[in-house]
Amino acid sequence: MTDNIKLTSLSSKGGCGCKIGPADLENVLRSLPQQTVPNPNLLVGLDTSDDAGVYKLTDDLALVQTVDFFTPIVDDPYAFGQVAAANAISDVYAMGGTPITALNIVAFPISTLDESILANILRGAGDKLEEAGVSLVGGHSIDDQEPKFGLAVTGTVHPNHIKTNTGAKPGDKLILTKPIGVGIMSSSLKKGLLEQDEIDRVTQVMTTLNKTASETMSDFKVNASTDVTGFGLLGHASEIATGSHVEIRIDSKAVPVLPRVKELAEGGVIPGGTKNNFNHINDIVTFPESFDQLDKYILCDAVTSGGLLMSVDSNDADTLLNTLQQKGVEAQIIGHVRDGHNGHITVD
Ligand code: CO
Ligand code: CO
Repeated sequence: MTDNIKLTSLSSKGGCGCKIGPADLENVLRSLPQQTVPNPNLLVGLDTSDDAGVYKLTDDLALVQTVDFFTPIVDDPYAFGQVAAANAISDVYAMGGTPITALNIVAFPISTLDESILANILRGAGDKLEEAGVSLVGGHSIDDQEPKFGLAVTGTVHPNHIKTNTGAKPGDKLILTKPIGVGIMSSSLKKGLLEQDEIDRVTQVMTTLNKTASETMSDFKVNASTDVTGFGLLGHASEIATGSHVEIRIDSKAVPVLPRVKELAEGGVIPGGTKNNFNHINDIVTFPESFDQLDKYILCDAVTSGGLLMSVDSNDADTLLNTLQQKGVEAQIIGHVRDGHNGHITVD
């Protein structure tokens, strides 16, 4: 048993511990039987690629439910716990909900790894839950060769204030609240290619809660929202384009990207999930002539615990942007929504 073990090096052979790609997932889900009697209280279910399920309890109260877990993405156990919690809670924030309770999901090689590592993972998650005002109500753990950690999170939302993928309107501006490039940075971290300040920066991005972003958007005319995670910026933007029957235009120069991401990509660090994401959306995206393949991959880069992508009424966009920035959120306007080639994304 050792304390200075590199957590990210413990992934077992086969599988990447990342999200199953969108194409594979769609195939599996398509093969399952549909629920024959639709439940009118199920406000958001499986059919719209939304971030969380929403179930109406009363006319003014609905439950928001989501779950996320994965293999270690950083080596520091405490930071891993924080990232996992911030990431799991984020789907509730993306739906415009208030997270209230959480359950831990733990897989850990308890006979070969020091138990203080697990304690630190749980402490990191616990501190993030506290910051979010979420009560830990339980969990489940199994002895497993490869550590995995995540949480199931429950929140509440008023049924009339749910933010989904389906409400974006032509004319809306798109605001993104965290930089991208997290997948390429975290793969580089696993390969030992990052300086300590770069590890700190990508960890800080991943451990930042989308709480302020979500609470702020509730005061503005935000017509759709999601969080940018495993399917990458373009993958999640395409869920809005498809769900809302609109065309999305992304101003690539306005998209915030973490430092050195292009350089690391040029060195060959492209996560498998990022390539899957690109293959999945390539048909519905028009890229500029000036783009090379790496530029395309970066916009599809698989993110862990990314920012919110909001589609906001153009009259509210500048005020929302300023308000977010004043509160310390790294928000930028990165594109707009229009009526045109619906379901399509054009990158300018
Ligand atoms: Co999500
Ligand atoms: Co999720």
